[in-house]
Parts: sequence; structure tokens; C-alpha cells
Amino acid sequence: MFQWKKTLYRSVFLSFLLVVTVTVLQRGMAPSQLLQGQPQKELVAQESVKAQKRDGVLPVASDFWKKQGPALKAAEATEKAVRSWDVTSVNCSANQNFSKEDWFKGLEPNFRQFMLYRHCRYFPMLINHAEKCRGDIHLLIVVKSIITQHDRREAIRRTWGQEREMEGRKVRTLFLLGVASKEEERANYQKLLDYEDRIYGDILQWDFLDSFFNLTLKEVHFLKWFSIYCDHVRYIFKGDDDVYVSPSNILEFLQDQKADNLFVGDVLFKARPIRKKENKYYIPNALYNKNTYPPYAGGGGFVMDGPLAKKLHRVSESLELYPIDDVFLGMCLEVLKVTPVAHAGFKTFGIVKNKNSKMNKEPCFYQSMLVVHKLLPSELLAMWDLVHSNLTCSRKLQIL
Ligand SMILES: *[C@@H]1O[C@H](CO)[C@@H](O)[C@H](O)[C@H]1NC(C)=O
Ligand SMILES: *[C@@H]1O[C@H](CO)[C@@H](O)[C@H](O)[C@H]1NC(C)=O
Ligand SMILES: *[C@@H]1O[C@H](CO)[C@@H](O)[C@H](O)[C@H]1NC(C)=O
Ligand SMILES: *[C@@H]1O[C@H](CO)[C@@H](O)[C@H](O)[C@H]1NC(C)=O
Repeated sequence: MFQWKKTLYRSVFLSFLLVVTVTVLQRGMAPSQLLQGQPQKELVAQESVKAQKRDGVLPVASDFWKKQGPALKAAEATEKAVRSWDVTSVNCSANQNFSKEDWFKGLEPNFRQFMLYRHCRYFPMLINHAEKCRGDIHLLIVVKSIITQHDRREAIRRTWGQEREMEGRKVRTLFLLGVASKEEERANYQKLLDYEDRIYGDILQWDFLDSFFNLTLKEVHFLKWFSIYCDHVRYIFKGDDDVYVSPSNILEFLQDQKADNLFVGDVLFKARPIRKKENKYYIPNALYNKNTYPPYAGGGGFVMDGPLAKKLHRVSESLELYPIDDVFLGMCLEVLKVTPVAHAGFKTFGIVKNKNSKMNKEPCFYQSMLVVHKLLPSELLAMWDLVHSNLTCSRKLQIL
């Protein structure tokens, strides 16, 4: 009897040891971590299950026994366990607090929808790439995109979104998406997106509807994501998927930047809220009653530094969401007392006001610009080739 018990204990102990050893090997953790608090353990488990599902491989550190001692690796693992996307479910019901008030009843349906769900801040991630910011990244390019615009993403990957290293400075690209706003698009497009991501591994997707008024959600989700996963990114370019961008001009411009709190783009000072209901950017008085906006950069494309993005994340959590994403960032900058810098190389409202002007198609302009609105995928590919061909420009533009 006694002998049998002893054998049982021994085999139980041995299996336990085996499980611990395997887990430690797989996750690169110190054994003591396994015995720590429950919540953290769960997080580690969830994160690696997700990674397995996405990539089909275990996130095994193949260089586990090389270079670093287990202790250092363990510290990293702990860090990752705590610092990962922590929103795993949505439970956010409509806020009925003001549904009886006249100003609310007078709003257009899309503004009512916005107000009802304004307090819902963060949603779970459907596609993540926690590894994207690993290593020293000089410039992270992030592009607002929607699920149906795969041709724009493709054109960007072939032109300004190419991941590369320029004189030792690494450039990485990510696309930011929500879920299809139209029910009928959701299932099929989602499968295509999953496939696209398996090929390129450059999609971040959150579980909120990709609507115009949810662009601010995209902004705050990116800032939170960046704060969690990107410790060593020096600069961020953030923009639309229908712009022309010159990463080499951006890098050249950044070379001369020394100051902290860099936020540069096509900046509007003292812009007035638009009160005409037909306009895409219409804002009712009930939502914003001041006469002017704080300075803000057009959301078509701007550059900021990584540390500032983290400050913006912190500040964004103290402000109520505003339906226009670039104005919302301007409001955050105002709290931080950072004034965005206007630069002539950012043309997010077109090169010249007249949309039909030939200037808007002139490659010699593009050659010296950092960002230009607004091109179809075919136009982008053609312009990119032109600018990178043997272009002879009669007049040298001094933009940079
Ligand atoms: C969601 O929130 C409501 C109230 O805010 C609560 O009654 C309900 O139990 C929650 N549901 C879940 C699944 O957490
Ligand atoms: C609605 O009002 C109550 C009481 O003032 C408040 O506690 C609650 O947070 C409000 N709900 C939302 C979603 O803001
Ligand atoms: C934003 O997304 C959330 C989550 O999908 C949705 O409930 C809400 O209605 C959306 N808001 C707008 C204004 O489209
Ligand atoms: C560009 O033009 C110059 C002179 O016309 C020529 O020598 C050079 O080979 C050309 N380069 C390319 C890439 O076509």
C-alpha cells in the first residue's frame, strides 16, 4: 500500500516536472513564473494560443540556449505577458443617459449612433502582429484602410509601403482595419483578409465597425497598440490608403530633426467647424460649440515621433472621442501643449486647390514632396514609376 502510494507520488511529480520543463522550453520562461499569479499565467497562455492559430507554429525561441541567459529571457517573457492587448470581450451597451434630451433627438442618425456608443473605448483584436515592432525600427508606416480596399493595399506594398532598410534605418509597414461595415461584406471579405494577412503579415484588425465616425476609434486603438508593442520605434508615418508618399524624402527630412515632440504635416490653424449639413465633416453645435478647432494636421498623412505617440495615447484616454479623427488628435496635442508643425511637403488637401489642374499630375512635384493626396491605385503605381524613372525636372524644387 505504502509502496504503491510512493510510486504514484513519484510519477505524478515526474509528469509535473515534465510539463514544467516542456512549457519552459516552449515559452522561454523561468520555472518560477509558472507558479506566479493566475491572471498572468492565463495571459501568457492566451497570447501563445493566438500566436499558434495565426502562424501555425509555436513561438519557440530557437536561440533560447544561445546568447542570453534564461534570466534575461524570463524578464522579457514577463514583460510580454503583462504587456499585450488586454481587451478580449466587448460588453458595451448604448448609453441611454441623454436619449430623452432635445439636443440629442435633434441630431442626425449618424451622430446619434456616435453619441450612443461614444463611451465604448476599446475592442478585441482579430488580427495582431505583436512581432512587428521588434528590433530597432526607424520608421513605422501605418495606413488606415478598409477591408474592401485590397487593391490600394497592394499598390502601397509595391510602392511606398515596401519594407526596407535605407542606410541602416529599418522601415516597416502596417495596415489598420476594423470589420466591414456592411453585413453582406463581412464573411467573404474577412476570409480574403485572413488570407492576405497570411501572405503579407501586415494587417492589424480590431473588432469594431469600419465607419467614418469610427476613424477616431482606429486612432486610439493604434495609439494603445503602439504603446504596448513598440518600444523602439523612432518615428511613425500615419496616413490614408489613397495618398502618394515618399519614404526617402521623409527619412531625409527626419535626418535633420533633433527636437522632441515632433508632429509634422499639412497643418490647419484656426480651422472652423463645418456647419453645413451636406458636408462630410459637418459637426452640429450640440457636439462642438467653439468657433475654431485647435491646430491639427490633415489625417491624409503626417509624421510624429514614437515617444510623442505614447504621450498622445495617455492623453487620449482623458478626452471624450470626437467624430473627426485628425481634429481629435489636435485636441490631444493641445492638452500636451504641443503645436503641430506645418510643412510644405505635405499636401493632404491636393497640390493646388483646383482639382483638375495639371500640376496635380506633374511628377516633378511629386519628386520633392513627402505626402500628396489623392490617388487611385493605378495612378499611384504609374506616378511611382514616373518619379523613380530617369526624370528630368527643369526647375529644382526646394521643399526639403
Ligand atoms: C454586460 O454589461 C451589463 C451591464 O453593463 C451586465 O448586466 C451584463 O452582465 C454584462 N454581460 C457580460 C457578458 O459581461
Ligand atoms: C450615465 O449616467 C450615470 C449617472 O450620472 C453615470 O454613472 C454613467 O457613467 C453614465 N453612463 C455613461 C455610459 O456615461
Ligand atoms: C463603431 O463601432 C462599434 C463597434 O462595432 C459600433 O457599435 C458603433 O455603432 C460604431 N459607431 C459608428 C458611429 O459607426
Ligand atoms: C538616366 O539617364 C542618363 C543620361 O541620359 C543615363 O546615363 C542613365 O543610364 C539613365 N539611367 C537609367 C536608370 O535609365
